[in-house]
Amino acid sequence: MPKFQLAPPQRILLGPGPSEVPRRVLNAGSLPAVGYLDPSFIELMKVVQEQLREMFLTENRYTLTITGAGTAAMECAIDNLCEPGDTVVCCVHGFFGDRMRQMYERAKVDLHLVTAPWGEPIDPENLKKTLDSLDKVDLVSVVHGETSTGVVQDVKTLAEVVKPSGALLLVDTVASMGGVEFRTDEWGVDVVYTGSQKCLSAPPGLSPITFSDRAVEKIKNRKTPPKSWYLDLMLNWKYWDDNPGYHHTGSIQTMYALHEALNLLQEEGLENRWARTKETAELLYQKLENLGFKMLVAPEHRLPTLTTAILPEGVDEAPMRKKLLTQYNIEVAGGLGDLAGKAWRVGLMGHSCRKESVHELHRVLSELLKGVTV
Ligand SMILES: Cc1ncc(COP(=O)(O)O)c(C=O)c1O
Repeated sequence: MPKFQLAPPQRILLGPGPSEVPRRVLNAGSLPAVGYLDPSFIELMKVVQEQLREMFLTENRYTLTITGAGTAAMECAIDNLCEPGDTVVCCVHGFFGDRMRQMYERAKVDLHLVTAPWGEPIDPENLKKTLDSLDKVDLVSVVHGETSTGVVQDVKTLAEVVKPSGALLLVDTVASMGGVEFRTDEWGVDVVYTGSQKCLSAPPGLSPITFSDRAVEKIKNRKTPPKSWYLDLMLNWKYWDDNPGYHHTGSIQTMYALHEALNLLQEEGLENRWARTKETAELLYQKLENLGFKMLVAPEHRLPTLTTAILPEGVDEAPMRKKLLTQYNIEVAGGLGDLAGKAWRVGLMGHSCRKESVHELHRVLSELLKGVTV
């Protein structure tokens, strides 16, 4: 008899990810192991690559997954695109934009920041001023869905601002791809990455990423190889190119699961998924406002997949969140930065984005808040 009995609780996951994994995806992940160069696995990788192009809305040849969490894809993008001395403009309007800033500092680039207060998007005018003040810019980056605040960035408009500078545009869609409208090629975005565990509702561990021809050209013309061997795009590409060879051991069962998650996305349709997420988010705003919560973000900038809601006066944030989790099996996340102890972050990602879960959250909170709020 093992000392530890593996019995994870069945939670309603309404946090910033991971989201709930549907039964079909879990079942796919339990199929038999094969070798990382088994012909059946190589065939699957090709199918997944096509599915990812459909998800990113891109024709990019260099579309693949990085074996690792979303941060690995972020690091892959930055490590491959940047060489010391490059000029980079990093937009920071929350925790994950700041994580990118930290990576640029390690990459020893000439770094320029465009910031916005937490809870607001980057102002395209501010980005334009910064770009106009620089002789040349190699790369601009921004987070599409800031999970720390619940703000969605209008990337289409930012891309128009970036275009005349000739810089490459890198966008983080870890919390938004598959849940919120994003059109890689139409908007002119060069590099986009996401994670398997949020709006796609596959297990964590694979991070889809896509590179435009322009971005690949820049990488091929590097004077020095990227710092990371594991995240080197050209080395990873050998595993995804025709006649694949060993680079690292692929995440076999997670790839099965990701494939099935992408099947579900295709069956529902991208645009239907975006619409379902928006509609469910509207219900969430209404239900939380009924209970006395206040939305942090202005309606036009709200990220449907993640809502930051300020708690009603008199509620003890952390104990209430703990009660929700341990007594009612509902996970939500606490606020970050200045909002710690004052706000919750409620996610509606992929399979977790269901109206019945919003109704359940509302029912439980109505009960818990009785007599607590003033
Ligand atoms: C917007 C955004 N970027 C990057 C990440 C990092 O992803 P991971 O935690 O999978 O490394 C997250 C994770 O929450 C995120 O929300």
